[in-house]
Amino acid sequence: MKLSWQVLQDLEKKYGECFYLLDLSKFQQNYTQFLDCFRSIYPNTNIGYSYKTNYIPKICKSVFELGGYAEVVSQMEYDLAIKIGVPPSRIIFNGPLKYTQDLEQAVLAGSIVNLDSLQEVQIICELAQRLPTQQILVGLRCNFDIGTDRISRFGLDVEGGDLDYIFKRFAELGNCQVRGLHCHFNTEQRSLESYALRTKKIIETTDRYFPDRSPEYIDVGGGYFGQMDDNLRKQFDFDIPTYQEYAQVIATQLKQRFAGSIQPELIIEPGVALVANVMKFVGKVVSLKTMRSRHLALVTGSIHTVKPSKQLPLTVYKNELDNARIESHTPIDLVGYTCMEHDCLYPEYPVPVSIGDYTVFDNVGAYSIVFKPPFIWPSPPIVSYDSTLNLYTLARRQETTQDVFATYEI
Ligand SMILES: Cc1ncc(COP(=O)(O)O)c(C=O)c1O
Repeated sequence: MKLSWQVLQDLEKKYGECFYLLDLSKFQQNYTQFLDCFRSIYPNTNIGYSYKTNYIPKICKSVFELGGYAEVVSQMEYDLAIKIGVPPSRIIFNGPLKYTQDLEQAVLAGSIVNLDSLQEVQIICELAQRLPTQQILVGLRCNFDIGTDRISRFGLDVEGGDLDYIFKRFAELGNCQVRGLHCHFNTEQRSLESYALRTKKIIETTDRYFPDRSPEYIDVGGGYFGQMDDNLRKQFDFDIPTYQEYAQVIATQLKQRFAGSIQPELIIEPGVALVANVMKFVGKVVSLKTMRSRHLALVTGSIHTVKPSKQLPLTVYKNELDNARIESHTPIDLVGYTCMEHDCLYPEYPVPVSIGDYTVFDNVGAYSIVFKPPFIWPSPPIVSYDSTLNLYTLARRQETTQDVFATYEI
């Protein structure tokens, strides 16, 4: 994607003064690279792309075309996968809240369903009793100690005996089987040590509960860092692992453990790692002001559109054609459209800006559009870039006032 002030001006004429840019080829490239790193060590690996991280249907379709699973955590996301043509067998249904009907339907349709609680186990047992001739297959999300400060609230308590109970109960029923084990832990540092430990623990759990057969799959969840430029990388006070390093600590353990026996499928569930760097946000500078010693530029975006947990990489495209443009003083705070004082997209930007410049924030692909509230302004459109055709097309139109208020009684 080669951007310039003129390209952005042409896009503005079509899509308005703020929009997201999605680079689908970059997503496909990340997907392939991440998977290749794992497959070069453990060939039976597949990706379950985490829909919640960014569920633009174009991305989700691309995952299906690349052979990946849809990793969903609600019926809303499950319905989206079905709507874009993903067969139930290519959907992994995780998450703490699955209603009985949804859970039963997904299991009977052949989706990979990882149960999160003993209540869900009970629903499955009742289904098995109702349908005694039906073979019921489910997965279990495991919760064990990986040294986090806070005890995770998800999954089943392995050390507390939940799995002992479930395997015993399923054996009594006769028509219920555990097809695979899953885990996912969110940690701030997303470190290699943590992935090494969770993989070791899930393999140990598998050894304990599958003494005479291999499970169909071992799913080690998501939570990996993606690729980032040096400026962003420097803002973390710990090392950011590469795709290859994650593969090394996870896939190598499976390779060693299952050498010479039936190799279960290794499932990984990246979201951030594949999608963070595939979206940019474009906002226009629409006004300048100086408040005593503070210089401010208003941009047609907000912290709700870019969700900056770090200072995001920023490129400003200046209108070089406008000889009469007035340049701001510096340093200048690039502030957003909301009424919140803290709505600052870039504090103390060191270079002058002018009205009509475009600010382009990078790395806004993860947990951005899915977390954008209808606060003060509706959501901007998403424009998708096709690098083979050098073509921009709409992935999501501009949200309207009517869209925002459609569900209210007026
Ligand atoms: C079960 C599960 N898998 C995968 C993910 C994806 O995590 P990330 O986007 O950090 O890779 C999440 C995120 O919370 C999750 O809950």
